[in-house]
Amino acid sequence: MSPRTGAPEDAYTAEPYLPDRGGLPALRKAAAGCRGCPLHRDATQTVFGEGTAKARVMLVGEQPGDQEDRQGKPFVGPAGKLLDRALEEAGIDPAEAYVTNAVKHFRFTRDEPRKRRIHKAPTLREAAACGPWLAAELAVVEPELVVVLGATAGKALLGSSFRVTQVRGTVLEEEIHGQPRRLVPTVHPSSVLRSDDREAAYRGFVSDLEVAGRLL
Ligand code: URA
Ligand code: SF4
Repeated sequence: MSPRTGAPEDAYTAEPYLPDRGGLPALRKAAAGCRGCPLHRDATQTVFGEGTAKARVMLVGEQPGDQEDRQGKPFVGPAGKLLDRALEEAGIDPAEAYVTNAVKHFRFTRDEPRKRRIHKAPTLREAAACGPWLAAELAVVEPELVVVLGATAGKALLGSSFRVTQVRGTVLEEEIHGQPRRLVPTVHPSSVLRSDDREAAYRGFVSDLEVAGRLL
């Protein structure tokens, strides 16, 4: 049993918190109260997806970072700035995309001496627990194209055998939650920021996004 939710880890799930009906506003409201896994405990707030239900493209990241946790919006920190710039270069208007994450709460450890919160990747169980929110967003938005940003999003949507290095910049046609979806995977924008050769990493990221841009 987890001391934090009282539920065994394999029982983590957002499912009971999903509303029976309604569109994105109903989902957002319900997600604000989600207690489906322990991540809500230390985070500031749920960071739900942003954008219109009519968006043709959905971008799926990993989880909110420090800035996103504070502001309550996805991709508003350094990775988001880089993402917006790359999208524009690839001919995708960031304002027309629906932007979300595989996991809706920020997972971190504290660096007490420096008073910093350090991002920690969500576990597979936490990502699986949060999956119903992403499934509901896909069902409402019905995007023509899903841009998968990095391994956590890829595994959440396509299963644990997903390898970003093998499929980045390609167009995948896969059945997800029983619906055919078209996806273009690429790396996570944070990995570009961490790269030793940032310029080359950025060019590679933009060229993957151009594959997506040409389909729209
Ligand atoms: N990284 C993500 O995966 N998502 C965000 O919203 C911010 C940083
Ligand atoms: Fe619910 Fe997802 Fe937050 Fe876990 S991370 S509490 S499943 S919204």
